[in-house]
Amino acid sequence: MADSSTLRIAATGDLHYTKHSRGEQQRLLVEASHEADVLLLCGDLTDYGLAQEAEVLAEDLHTYAHIPIVAVLGNHDFESGHVEEIRSIIEKAGVITLDGECVEIKGVGFAGVPGFGGGFGERMLNAWGEPIIKMFVQEAIDHALRLEQALARLHTSQRIVLLHYSPIRATVEGENLEILPFLGSGRLEEPLNRFAVTAAFHGHAHNGTPAGETTAKVPVFNVAIPVLQRLNPHQPPFRIFEVKGSEKEALPA
Ligand SMILES: [Fe+2]
Ligand SMILES: [Fe+2]
Repeated sequence: MADSSTLRIAATGDLHYTKHSRGEQQRLLVEASHEADVLLLCGDLTDYGLAQEAEVLAEDLHTYAHIPIVAVLGNHDFESGHVEEIRSIIEKAGVITLDGECVEIKGVGFAGVPGFGGGFGERMLNAWGEPIIKMFVQEAIDHALRLEQALARLHTSQRIVLLHYSPIRATVEGENLEILPFLGSGRLEEPLNRFAVTAAFHGHAHNGTPAGETTAKVPVFNVAIPVLQRLNPHQPPFRIFEVKGSEKEALPA
């Protein structure tokens, strides 16, 4: 455990809990609780977005995790149309879920949204043509706006962002080119730069790259469990990030 001026963050994502997953992430939750002061869950908490899956996860979180938990939901959590029920079940287990909200823990601010797709850079999808394309693009814009509003409400010097979708291309590289535009949106990058975010964590790109940075050098970490398992096959799949005083310092996972 770090000294009182340091907040140690354990970050992971894509737990994909099923109704048969009881105890599956016991080691992750127990060790993260020993090594860190707060645990971040970057979406895809459940596999099919079923309440029963969320109940199994909530019980494991309650049993094995003993530090504050902050989460965003992922696309799998939306799959069955029970997203409010899932949110309610995990919140009853003490998890703080963020969708355009923010929270302050021990002087460090956390803001989060699930995010959305649309791609990155010059070839990012634009709101042009059919109404359905405009709706798709608007969804990504809405997530970026909600993130911006959450960041604007934080008055801490250190700001951490949770996402499910990636804000940059670098951390989805490794995935098939055909699906890159569905793994994130460059529209999420601008709020990270403008608010000089300390670090951003996301999941979703299971075959992506562990770390990258925005154009303004904000560190971005892909903490999807399969990515972390490839990075450190013998360690429980979470990344430790240390926020120290008023400066920022990243430690290797
Ligand atoms: Fe996932
Ligand atoms: Fe996902």
